[in-house]
Amino acid sequence: MADHEARARELLAPHISAYYGATAGSGGGSAEGIAAWSAVRFRPRALVDLSSIDTATTVLGTPVSMPVLVAPMAQQLGAHPEGEAAMGRATATAGTLLGVSTNTAVPFADIAAAGAPWWFQVYVTRDHHLTELMVQRAVEAGARALMLTVDMLALLPPDVNPRAWPESPARARMSNLTAAELAAADPHAVEMDPSIGFDTVAWLRQLSGLPVLVKGILRGDDALRAVDAGAAGVVVSTHGGRRLGPSVTAAAALPEVVAAIGDGAEVYADSGIRSAEHVAAALALGARAVFIGRPALWALAAEGENGVRDVLTGLAAELQQVMTQLGAPRIADLTSDLVATTPRAAS
Ligand SMILES: Cc1cc2nc3c(=O)[nH]c(=O)nc-3n(C[C@H](O)[C@H](O)[C@H](O)COP(=O)(O)O)c2cc1C
Repeated sequence: MADHEARARELLAPHISAYYGATAGSGGGSAEGIAAWSAVRFRPRALVDLSSIDTATTVLGTPVSMPVLVAPMAQQLGAHPEGEAAMGRATATAGTLLGVSTNTAVPFADIAAAGAPWWFQVYVTRDHHLTELMVQRAVEAGARALMLTVDMLALLPPDVNPRAWPESPARARMSNLTAAELAAADPHAVEMDPSIGFDTVAWLRQLSGLPVLVKGILRGDDALRAVDAGAAGVVVSTHGGRRLGPSVTAAAALPEVVAAIGDGAEVYADSGIRSAEHVAAALALGARAVFIGRPALWALAAEGENGVRDVLTGLAAELQQVMTQLGAPRIADLTSDLVATTPRAAS
């Protein structure tokens, strides 16, 4: 994965790699996010029947080959001429699921044609009608769930903001709105609505008929509110360390969220997942599955579709090894008794 990042940084224009690699504050939060998963210590089981190891599971009812999904990330045309369509083909080959950003510049039909099951990530625009149009189009194109992202209301600084990029296909975003719809909208209409609340979950459910996950939750009380508001689950996430430098890490927040909502909904996690040991740690701490962000994006930029496929299939193979070492032959066997220490809430 480190090789992919180094190669991608050589290949990409500096403004694109700066955006992909951006972190909030001093940047330490992103490194801490990775370290917090690495800090989990396991209590492996002995003398378990390990004659077959199975990484398959389901996410909101959709079967996947492993509990590792690809996170929604904006503007992948900057990494590859086919962007999310190429990411989707690699995801399909690996048998897993793709998150698709509101800020994709690739038509939903092309992403759907890649063949992977996909969830549409929603940023609610100030003009709610624009969000309605995008959600309806995502539903028509086959999205199986919505992910309402609630953690990125601050504008990125200009040096890492795609809106300051030179004019190019990679700069486009929200391309599932027509040029006429975008041109007719007030420039502020496409900005994120800072006033939305938990009632947005019911609105999106009603609009789409799909399950809604709330992405960017770091507290048990917020997780509970999301589920009470009708969410099918939450994604514990620091947006890959891009939201707030001195934030609690996802690994530290996960046990609190799992304890707050119990079996009432599905809990996902991301931010800093870099290995199969991290995947196992997140699942043992109560996540149903994890998302990987930058490792997939750097791989797409460095090696295209094959690079992403190799990252995903490599993680699946490693996960089989880790499950063997843990004495956990099925995903359902990755339970909390396997964890000896959990990261401290303050770490
Ligand atoms: C370049 C980039 C763009 C992103 N765009 C979005 C987005 O549009 N919507 C969203 O919900 N999350 C977005 N994210 C956050 C990811 O979905 C995910 O939470 C994060 O990348 C996971 O952390 P990791 O990169 O350490 O694996 C983006 C992340 C990156 C790196």
